[in-house]
Amino acid sequence: MAVLDGRQVAESIQAETAAEVAKLKSERGIVPGLAVIMAGDDPASRSYVGSKSRLAEKLGIRSELVKLPADVSLAELLRILAEKNADPGIHAILVQMPLPAGLDPWAVIDRIDPAKDADAFHPANQGLILQNRGRVYPCTPLGVMRLLDHYAIDPAGMNAAVVGRSFLVGKPMAAMLSNRNATVTLCHSRTLGLAAILREAQLVVAAVGKPGFISAEMVKPGAVLVDVGINHVDKEADFEKFCPPSLYESFKKKGSVITGDIHYQAFAKATHYTPVPGGVGPLTVAMLMHNTVELCKRSISVTRDA
Ligand code: GUN
Repeated sequence: MAVLDGRQVAESIQAETAAEVAKLKSERGIVPGLAVIMAGDDPASRSYVGSKSRLAEKLGIRSELVKLPADVSLAELLRILAEKNADPGIHAILVQMPLPAGLDPWAVIDRIDPAKDADAFHPANQGLILQNRGRVYPCTPLGVMRLLDHYAIDPAGMNAAVVGRSFLVGKPMAAMLSNRNATVTLCHSRTLGLAAILREAQLVVAAVGKPGFISAEMVKPGAVLVDVGINHVDKEADFEKFCPPSLYESFKKKGSVITGDIHYQAFAKATHYTPVPGGVGPLTVAMLMHNTVELCKRSISVTRDA
């Protein structure tokens, strides 16, 4: 059971992206620009948004953070979005999800310029992904694909089970694995006979947001396990159910630990697995930087190898 080390792969993507940023600057005099729009003050979102801005700066990308109150009106949010759509210094736009209750995410996503859509959430971009001709891909599933590629795990021909059907992760992940010739079953928390489906899967991607949701008994021996879940466990009873005893000291000290959707006891049955933290998480932010540069290059019609 080998660990798929997301931190290491994220570092190589960062280095590659920083080199591309430097090249754009020296050869074309262009600095890729990313606008991050966040409404409300969800602590998890605040932490993600902070790490996005820090990494952008480190790689030489210009990042703008627009923080809006939780009670911002849809009209005001759309006004700011239109401003960023029209700004030639901004090549990529991300609207942090989830939006505060009362703001319809589709009303916002529909108005992101598809050519500046850093997350590939716009319906035009999601449609292109289904047709295997995406311009950009959502950061988390793209990170998963890069991780598999890095470890020479080819999904072609595999039975792949994706658990979770969000438009952020599960649905595009299923399409992207299908594009790479996997046989994909898109499951979710209400799938009947989930255990039987997972026991036939050579590759499992879990993105349900429930700690330990996939138990060791549900996993096929020799499977590749990819865990997108980031769950905060702060109750002692949950810790005992879902977390390895080796983390107990850290749990007591910090009052909580982060754990994934796949129970740690399943790792022993896998050939490869992603740890949480340190698996898919670091890749998501690195892929956002990659997408920003990709969209910048597309905006000036520079191909990847030019
Ligand atoms: N919230 C959690 N993950 C993401 C993401 O990848 N993009 C955006 N926009 N919001 C998120």
